[in-house]
Amino acid sequence: MKIGPYTLTSRFLLAPMAGVTDAPFRRLCREFGAGLTTSEMTTADISLWQTEKSRRRLDIDGDLEPRAVQIAGSEPEQMALAARLCVERGAQIVDINMGCPAKKVCRKLAGSALMQDEALVQKILAAVVAAVDIPVTLKMRTGWDPDHRNGPEIAKIAEGEGIQALAVHGRTRACRYKGDAEYETIARIKNSLSIPVIANGDITTLEKSLEVLRLTEADALMVGRGAQGRPWFFRELIHFHETGKKIAPLELEKVRDIMLGHLNGLYRFYGETTGVRVARKHLSWYCAELTDSASFRSKVVRVDSASEQLTLTRDYFARQRERASLAA
Ligand SMILES: Cc1cc2nc3c(=O)[nH]c(=O)nc-3n(C[C@H](O)[C@H](O)[C@H](O)COP(=O)(O)O)c2cc1C
Repeated sequence: MKIGPYTLTSRFLLAPMAGVTDAPFRRLCREFGAGLTTSEMTTADISLWQTEKSRRRLDIDGDLEPRAVQIAGSEPEQMALAARLCVERGAQIVDINMGCPAKKVCRKLAGSALMQDEALVQKILAAVVAAVDIPVTLKMRTGWDPDHRNGPEIAKIAEGEGIQALAVHGRTRACRYKGDAEYETIARIKNSLSIPVIANGDITTLEKSLEVLRLTEADALMVGRGAQGRPWFFRELIHFHETGKKIAPLELEKVRDIMLGHLNGLYRFYGETTGVRVARKHLSWYCAELTDSASFRSKVVRVDSASEQLTLTRDYFARQRERASLAA
């Protein structure tokens, strides 16, 4: 699949997730074959860019190309300026967030709340596309609420304004993350556009990925929560769709090395104190994938130093190896 001049290395993309898809996690997902990763959303209000949080969110120096940054806001000129500054910082794709139901964004009528004002959507898209000479993409939901699934209308507006790819999460804003994602509206959108359409929502298994592609005929799939604690899901998806077969699970030693590398990446990126804190949620997600991990999990999310997190992680895997060799 292509976005503007960029041919993506795979059609399995990582969804932007604030608080999750930071630089270390993006790097890891790309290593496992994610065709594109996007920064966590950054406010278009550049007066807030001096904060540590925004500075980190805009850190795309280590990303593989194409480097995509997501911005969220509701004022066309502000969004245009933010997009220009993202380009100055090395962005090669600017993604506009109209998918996030988070309160903080929506109180300012941004994220998916914007979908209720189609005229404003048009102004924002036009302003951003005119402001930069890199591809602008849009991420949205299927509509404002189940009675107003205006995703197809917004999609048409987006294509008309020069948006170069569209990611659609199969829920409305009112659904937040409840219920199951639906793919019928995504299929309708795909059917009516010429630009690439990326289907998103609840793709957590290989079987589901096949089903979503069949139902929507989308050009690519975007995975969010399905990659938490298992960045290797992208490798599984690629293998499955290329060969029709499931790839053998990663060896325990490999999983250990991935986790230790991820932890060290977080400590480097955030510094030890914040890094240890951020690592806790990733460790919890990894544990959901690991056998007999309950006691490891309860300890590792409580310690306060990098060395303790690393030691507990190594010890868990050493114990698992011992058990495996006793059982053999
Ligand atoms: C913790 C979290 C943070 C998110 N942050 C963003 C964000 O910054 N920008 C955005 O467009 N969507 C955001 N989303 C929505 C995801 O990109 C995605 O559309 C949604 O999770 C559905 O995909 P999934 O079922 O594969 O997780 C977030 C979702 C989660 C769970």
